[in-house]
Amino acid sequence: MAFIKRNYGWIIVVILACLPLIPLLNMLQIDFSNGISVSLTESAGNNGRTTAEMMYHVSGEFAIRWMTAVLTLTPWFILFGTTNLFVRQAMGIATAVWSFLHFIIFVWIEGFLETFTEVNYIAGFIAVLIIIPLFLTSNRKSMKRLKTNWKKLQSFSYAVIFLSLLHVAILEKTWLIYALIVGIGFIVRLPFVKERIIAFRNKRSASNF
Ligand code: HEM
Repeated sequence: MAFIKRNYGWIIVVILACLPLIPLLNMLQIDFSNGISVSLTESAGNNGRTTAEMMYHVSGEFAIRWMTAVLTLTPWFILFGTTNLFVRQAMGIATAVWSFLHFIIFVWIEGFLETFTEVNYIAGFIAVLIIIPLFLTSNRKSMKRLKTNWKKLQSFSYAVIFLSLLHVAILEKTWLIYALIVGIGFIVRLPFVKERIIAFRNKRSASNF
């Protein structure tokens, strides 16, 4: 019970991050009759989407939602003064895993070389490549080993969200809401805005005593 009390933040993230695997697995047909063969379930999509498009939709949407959420943590901290490193780490891992899954699904359905046929896929691919070192270094050990370089490395997440938004915008899918949330976050991070918010918060908490 004490474990749950201490770790409920990242436990919730893990549960939320795993839930979309259920519809995704439902779109697959696994046949054990001749070794193991995995294929797409017929017409598992909705709103006129094919099963493949539905798989891109679910995986892509969750990748960008986690990415937006994780980039909102610092502005959230500036605004409200609360943070949790373990939750941040779990959300970062959820972002990376959904981005990798999205790409793996694409390679499985279309083939790796198809990645280089459209500008939007190339933008997504560069984003996935940048996510790899971010994912591998999102732990305490790497943080200690890389010291100030860790922060520099993590700041590449700005390039990741930019490329991901570009990928989705060219595809003419939902991107504006994510761009807005991330954009407001960047305004809050600006040094002079950040200082004013923190000064305002400090003044308010001092007057509450
Ligand atoms: C090599 C990397 C990538 C490839 C090949 C790829 C491929 C695709 C494809 C084929 C679609 C479906 C397009 C359609 O239905 O017309 C798609 C949609 C999408 N992708 Fe990617 N993607 C990549 C990386 C990423 C990354 C890094 C993100 C964000 C974290 C992302 C987020 C999305 C989103 C949000 C959608 C729209 C889903 C929808 O609403 O239907 N993709 N991607």
